[in-house]
Amino acid sequence: MKNPEAADYVVGVIGAGAMGQGVIQVSVQGGMRCLIVDAKPGAAEAAREAIAGRINRLVEKQRISADEAAAAIGRMEVIADFPELAPCDAVIEAIFESIDVKRETFAKVEAAVSPECLIASNTSSIPIASIARSCEHRGRIAGMHFFNPVPLMKLVEVIRAAETTDATVEAMTVLGKRMGRTPVTVKDSPGFLVNMGGRAYTTEGLRLVHEGVATPAEVDAIMRDCRHFRMGPFELMDLTGIDVNYPVSLIVYEGYLHDPRIKTAPNHKALFDAGLLGRKTGQGWFAYDKGKPLDRPSADYATAAPLASTVRLAESSEALDAFCAEIGLKIGDNGPFLAAPIGEDATTVSLRTGVAHQTLVCLDLTGDTSKRVTLMAAPGAGRDALDMVAAAIIASGRAVTVIKDSPGFVAQRMSVMIANLGCYMAEIGLASPDDIDLAMQLGLNYPLGPLALAEDLGAMNTLTILEQLQAITGEDRYRPTMWLKRRARLGLPVHTEG
Ligand code: NAI
Repeated sequence: MKNPEAADYVVGVIGAGAMGQGVIQVSVQGGMRCLIVDAKPGAAEAAREAIAGRINRLVEKQRISADEAAAAIGRMEVIADFPELAPCDAVIEAIFESIDVKRETFAKVEAAVSPECLIASNTSSIPIASIARSCEHRGRIAGMHFFNPVPLMKLVEVIRAAETTDATVEAMTVLGKRMGRTPVTVKDSPGFLVNMGGRAYTTEGLRLVHEGVATPAEVDAIMRDCRHFRMGPFELMDLTGIDVNYPVSLIVYEGYLHDPRIKTAPNHKALFDAGLLGRKTGQGWFAYDKGKPLDRPSADYATAAPLASTVRLAESSEALDAFCAEIGLKIGDNGPFLAAPIGEDATTVSLRTGVAHQTLVCLDLTGDTSKRVTLMAAPGAGRDALDMVAAAIIASGRAVTVIKDSPGFVAQRMSVMIANLGCYMAEIGLASPDDIDLAMQLGLNYPLGPLALAEDLGAMNTLTILEQLQAITGEDRYRPTMWLKRRARLGLPVHTEG
């Protein structure tokens, strides 16, 4: 097997569509000769022109020199058919997502190249082992799962199938680096790593809206302001397209034999069925005009109520004391009762502490509360106590979002679902704990990887929130992983292997 660092290394790319073009570009920019084949007449030539245009734009932006651009463009070579792939040291397939067509293509590649040539599929959902099963030399077959747009997305998942050799994984890792990517080794599994790990953020957001806890705009604002996600789950779904993320949800859910942790909600299917696919159709969770977002419903609570002058604490906590001091709320013998529950809903806090639910206001103080604070009260509580507390927080310059009673509010629920799924991926050995965090940050722009998120919340808090969610809802969706349970109880870092 040839070392991908060799000066004369040759890469073949099959399928010059959106993904293939990206792979070709990073290959030639990495100094490798690249042979291009596409079944559609003229498609490979058109791709070469499009890529040359993109590389030349990098010269205009002074990112590369004119000589470097000319050399990279000169390394692209269109070929007419598969036998011309013979000189390749590695072939990457990026054709239509069909198992039959991919199997047929792999057989044609094997017939053309040497048994030493690496063969990779860029499939996003088909198990690599099932594409490889009819091939002769299966040890050199693996997945190289790039992300769109390839030149901007640094991550590549190197997918190790049942028969992939260590040498193949190592060579594809070196190849990925030569392409300027950050490779992460991932076990051949439904949705691989990022598309599996991403299920928590989307599906828990959908669950919150389905249950009427909050609106899409409120969930998005909370996740941006309190947990520093660049996009909320609903604006993200609209951007990727419901026609992409709904089928991916089903594939991963089926692949994991209906694990309730990754089950999506009926509102996802409803949008898909209605053809309200997001930005591309002008309407998804939000409305768009020619791809530009129109005004969204506000996530900010408004009230003209007088500010609470004093409050009482349903139970004391450091976070609550500090927050009251910060916004100038005096703790006295009258006024609304406050609590900052970890995992419990307002109903449970009221029953446990004996504080009447009509006077109890719960605040989520687990994330960043400098811009926005989430409040909730039990059903039937009315708005008197809540409005006085909301007014005091708004007067401190923060936005307030009021949600319906929910164990774990919005941010706690979303965060522990992401963290627990990250722990599950570590438990089943999809990748190393550090690689799980790295892949989720690079592939989905998460501010923290899922295991780091558990650390940020505190492993014990993460476990407590999940246990409360499981107990209050009665759903296995929220069952904590053994990985998390053991580390939280032993007081070990969540990244601890073994
Ligand atoms: P695309 O539709 O843009 O391009 C596919 C190209 O393959 C077309 O140019 C088509 O003419 C060519 N083609 C189809 N059948 C062929 C065959 N038998 N032989 C040679 N060429 C053939 O598709 P896209 O989006 O580039 O996806 C390609 C693969 O990458 C799929 O497996 C997809 O699941 C995967 N992928 C896509 C991502 C995305 O965001 N679009 C992200 C990650 C993976």
